[in-house]
Amino acid sequence: MCGITGYTGSGKALPFLLQGMKCLEYRGYDSAGITLVGEALTTWKAKGRITELERMIDPALCPEHTGIGHTRWATHGVPSQLNAHPHNNMDDTISIIHNGIIENYMELKRELLGKGYVFASETDSEVVVHLIDDCWKNCGQDMLKALQKAVHRLQGSFALCVVTTYDPTRIYCLKKESPLVLGHSAEGSYCASDPTALLAGTREILAMEDGQIAVLSKNRIDLYDFDGQEVPAVFVHYPYDAESAQKGGYDSFMQKEIHEQPHAIRETLRGRFDADNRLIMEEIDSLGLNWSHLHRVYFIACGTAYHASIYGKTLLQRAAHISCIAETASEFRYEDPIVDEHTLCIFISQSGETADTLAAVRLAKERHAATVALTNVLGSSISRMCDATVYTCAGPEIAVASTKAYTTQLVMLVCLDLKIAEKLKAVFPEEEKLIRSLKSLPETVEKTLELEETMKEYAQLLIHQHDAYFIGRQLDYPTALEGALKLKEISYVHADAYYAGELKHGPIALIEPETVVVAIATQKDVAAKTFSNMQETLARGANVIFITDQDTDAQDFARVIRIPACMEELAPVPAAVLLQELAYFTAEGKGCDIDKPRNLAKSVTVE
Ligand code: G6P
Repeated sequence: MCGITGYTGSGKALPFLLQGMKCLEYRGYDSAGITLVGEALTTWKAKGRITELERMIDPALCPEHTGIGHTRWATHGVPSQLNAHPHNNMDDTISIIHNGIIENYMELKRELLGKGYVFASETDSEVVVHLIDDCWKNCGQDMLKALQKAVHRLQGSFALCVVTTYDPTRIYCLKKESPLVLGHSAEGSYCASDPTALLAGTREILAMEDGQIAVLSKNRIDLYDFDGQEVPAVFVHYPYDAESAQKGGYDSFMQKEIHEQPHAIRETLRGRFDADNRLIMEEIDSLGLNWSHLHRVYFIACGTAYHASIYGKTLLQRAAHISCIAETASEFRYEDPIVDEHTLCIFISQSGETADTLAAVRLAKERHAATVALTNVLGSSISRMCDATVYTCAGPEIAVASTKAYTTQLVMLVCLDLKIAEKLKAVFPEEEKLIRSLKSLPETVEKTLELEETMKEYAQLLIHQHDAYFIGRQLDYPTALEGALKLKEISYVHADAYYAGELKHGPIALIEPETVVVAIATQKDVAAKTFSNMQETLARGANVIFITDQDTDAQDFARVIRIPACMEELAPVPAAVLLQELAYFTAEGKGCDIDKPRNLAKSVTVE
């Protein structure tokens, strides 16, 4: 995720900015930049690491006391020097840095191009600086008024910092749905996307609320709402050290990322539906595929993303009645698959760099299939190789075990499947209701996270166990697979997942008193069947954790957890969140190194 840092005060700005940006490196980034403000703006930008940026700058020639710094993680426009922030207006008098997504940037860009503004980058962010310039000229050259005017034109999410030569001792900060914190000390005022970057200067911190504009100067910080009404600025002492600050006060990155899921899903869905709830997916519209000649759809991936593939293929096949196949990339590449010009291959990869998945893309292309990438990393190899790419907007995942990348893949697969069904002239059952339920999924996940303490209690059952079994049918099956994988990955408890109907064909021989069985039953047509399979394990003394959204007679067993109401097609999202929590608290109880499990790598770039 992009990182923001800013300083204005009695000290030199550059050293503070550089150290702040280095504190934010853990979030992942692909380019970096700084603007210092004096009589003129001085801006440096570099693709790659902060050290590349430092090579361009001579600190001895940088006496400025005000500046802003940014580490960019690409969302609109590939990683490059031109797309790196800050972005300046045409006469280099205003400079901005931005985290978030400006949803209506195309509309604003057209309008600004019409007024003669020239764009230097491919980013959504650059529209902001030209828009501010335009408003500044039309607001009697009053920056605060210009920002109030500009902010009402922006749709989407943003944490913005603005500096200008017209007012070289100030930084203006604006926030909506992207984090931005302010700090103050005797040496000056600070801003950052994350408290980590402020700790070298101060521990007196204020987390801006949505809809606020802050004006930072050497001796004070003034806070306003977007309409210019002053609001009180209340600072609190920040209690965490740098390491726990990076983790947002959570004990691990995995726990932080589990809790980021409502936001990640919201960002992934942002801009995907118009006012009439019609799906917007131009990437697929422009694929140039003859849909009426399509014979089959492959969903191909590795690891957690493979579980998302099973979800995606089950959902699409059900709605569109076309042959859908989910396959692991490592098998697909060697099995001589039936892939030709009548085949659509969807490749799912958080990193976009997994070696087996990339090899599978090459094979599909050799055989003239249409290829679509679903990835979280803009400009990744997979996005460069495939005919079209749809992105999840989970932000960088730091913990090795995937959490928010998985649930956002499920969300994007619902969108992708809806689009493919539309192209095939098929309709999802209760499609309008599904879209409404999809749009409220961030709140569903928020409510699911409130069940955390219950999952912590259930995890105690697993801490001293060697084995666990996860069962589910239909869309609950990939959830069972993912739950078992999470548990294995971070707690080292051996876990297997089965179709619930397969239990009695072998695995039930392993059930003995106190064996943990996690049964997932969110699909109404088969929930009663899974319930019966679960009873069979109960009868053999298993400790059962039953995850459902169905009305069941819970008195027969001790542990039932009900996921918040949503369409059953979407229930795998909150169910996965619960299983992430179960794995997390088991690993925590066992004292495991949760973020860096043994033998595992985040990105597997070898076969
Ligand atoms: C590794 C990671 C998994 C991930 C898999 C596929 O095994 O540890 O979390 O699911 O690679 O990675 P990708 O980046 O292609 O989704």
